[in-house]
Amino acid sequence: MQNAVVTGWGKCIPPAVLTNDDIAGFIDTTDEWISKRTGIRRRHISHVNTSALASVAAQRALAAAGLSGSEIDLIILATTSPDTLIPNIAATVQADIGASCGAFDINAACSGFLYGVGLASTQIASGQCHKVLVVGAERLSYYIDWSRRETAVLFGDGAGAVVLEGVDGDRVLGVLGYALHNDPGGREFLKSEFGTGMNRFDPESLNFYIHLDGREVFKRAVHGMQSLCVRVLEEAGVCDAEVDLVIPHQANARIIASLAGRMKLPMEKVFINIAQYGNTSTATIPIAICDALDEGRIKPGCNILSGAFGAGLTSAALLLRWGDRTTPLNSSDAELPPCESSAMELIRPALDHFCN
Ligand code: COA
Repeated sequence: MQNAVVTGWGKCIPPAVLTNDDIAGFIDTTDEWISKRTGIRRRHISHVNTSALASVAAQRALAAAGLSGSEIDLIILATTSPDTLIPNIAATVQADIGASCGAFDINAACSGFLYGVGLASTQIASGQCHKVLVVGAERLSYYIDWSRRETAVLFGDGAGAVVLEGVDGDRVLGVLGYALHNDPGGREFLKSEFGTGMNRFDPESLNFYIHLDGREVFKRAVHGMQSLCVRVLEEAGVCDAEVDLVIPHQANARIIASLAGRMKLPMEKVFINIAQYGNTSTATIPIAICDALDEGRIKPGCNILSGAFGAGLTSAALLLRWGDRTTPLNSSDAELPPCESSAMELIRPALDHFCN
């Protein structure tokens, strides 16, 4: 059986920045409230579609792995904000990277990237695939009703990707275990009315937005992630003390601190980058992997525990033993097209619609 090891990683963050003060300029909130209650200081607003973010992150991950797109034999793209539903945007990424393989999108909300890595590792372990690209990409700004302060402050746009490769050997490396769950009793607490349930002939139906019961999701998130993290550690025979780094979904710094506290994992072992990006849903974990590598937080052979939760209410946990390499083999020259607008200019049509 082959181990599924991460050999490439890349992220794509759109350049336009929306600060807490920018948001406080149009709704009743403050930088102090947002940073204290969530840990978020800014988020990025995309001037391009989700697939463009995904393709750049994918090309950077391929370069880091020293691979070309034609060597990939499966693409799994996690998103809840695809630019098209038909076809899926994994197909767009596939065309951009020149791959010839299976490709599909998954919607498991903020847990989507971990769902994707779990499924990829199983494909590799079974021998069905050898090199799998997993992308998490979101343009959640598309869904935001900027007059609703409970969600306007939380979300941002971005993408991250990893390449997983099957590696033979005596040493146990790569994905050591994963667990997936869904709590349908909580599906009303985090939702958007976007989909075929909309009356496409009624302009009112275009007023869809993300509805969030923050307190309920907060409680269920901590509980859901904790139980799956504990299960994954137990099944892998790894104890808390052997966890070197925790890379959780970045939805709220207080959720992360509660999870670490309940699991008695010291905060020094927990990676948090929510201040810079807000909640980019399924992209938070691959972006955090890239940042943790850049900051030297991921060492060869270290045990990384990751947990996520999102609409559904989905949850997922993953235990990953990093391989030997923590630097990219190559760099990519893939870039987004230049952005001529500020973040405020990018959200102006939505502000005019929702806030006037
Ligand atoms: N600015 C200022 N005040 C705000 C605010 C904002 N952006 N949003 C809410 N408030 C107010 C509320 O109106 C409430 O006021 P009241 O006490 O006068 O009624 C007060 O702040 C506390 O609201 P509450 O909802 O209890 O805050 P909270 O501490 O639970 O934080 C969230 C709200 C949304 C940040 C938090 O619940 C959360 O992070 N939830 C989960 C995140 C999530 O679901 N993410 C998406 C899924 S991945």
